[in-house]
Amino acid sequence: MTARHLLKLSDLHADEARRIVGRATELKSSHGPDHRPLLGRTLAMLFAKSSTRTRVSFEVGMAKLGGHALMLATAQTQLGREEPLADTARVLSRMCDAIMIRNDSQADQEELAQQSRVPVINGLSELHHPCQLLADVQTWFEHRGDPSGKVAAWIGDGNNVCNSWIEAARLFGFTLRAATPHQYRPDPQVLKFAGKSLALVDDPAAAVAGADLVVTDTWTSMGREAERAERIQILAPFQVNEALMAKAGPDAVFMHCLPAHRGEEVTAGVIDGPQSVVWDEAENRLWAQMALLEFLLA
Ligand code: CP
Ligand code: NVA
Repeated sequence: MTARHLLKLSDLHADEARRIVGRATELKSSHGPDHRPLLGRTLAMLFAKSSTRTRVSFEVGMAKLGGHALMLATAQTQLGREEPLADTARVLSRMCDAIMIRNDSQADQEELAQQSRVPVINGLSELHHPCQLLADVQTWFEHRGDPSGKVAAWIGDGNNVCNSWIEAARLFGFTLRAATPHQYRPDPQVLKFAGKSLALVDDPAAAVAGADLVVTDTWTSMGREAERAERIQILAPFQVNEALMAKAGPDAVFMHCLPAHRGEEVTAGVIDGPQSVVWDEAENRLWAQMALLEFLLA
């Protein structure tokens, strides 16, 4: 039997995505040391890029479920000396029970998955960040109930996290209004998947008007550092500040996957203010991925 992978959020059916998010909240309130469904199982974590949350949440999550996670910074493996990813996948999948990968190539992740006997999880690529969205939707549910029928506003760069928000809108039945500069629109393939659940707009104020949730992310994703000065200039009108938040619904929550850059994509007043749920959002990476690991492995 071929393994199930999570390379993008839409690899899940809507009912599966809902089940994982619900299970995440259940684990958060009830997980204890006796629940060890992954006893003796190992997750290999290939990181070609930096991480705080993704690494810690997968490592702690595996430990809580009775298993073990192996940190493999790709530069310190033979991948860093040009061993093909496909060969690495064949070897890892004979020793480990799942593989998580963070790199700059969705195509390489797909190749890895093709050669792997065990589930492959995208821990961020240039195009998607599905684990982030499991945690984000969990957080939205926990603060405001079922997001179905509600409106979220994405403000800023149409990046990997934005693409995963677009997929989440379709899967969970909410509308996403995305305000991005035309240079930084989301991925065309993802736009096709979105259908009517997405509205692309130019004006951040139009995106947030009456919205139930406002979300943004860094203007300079990992790997884009050379474009930083240009991006700051182009994205300046897309800052989430107090004036913009005031146009959202009175109960709107603010989210950011972190790391954040106060004074760039978001002001300190918003991210450290009363509408921000970013610390719950960060914590939920742990519970959402534990639910995902159970779904893929247990
Ligand atoms: N949000 C997120 O993925 O954080 P890290 O880069 O710290 O893993
Ligand atoms: N868009 C950001 C997300 C970091 C978690 C990046 O790719 O760097």
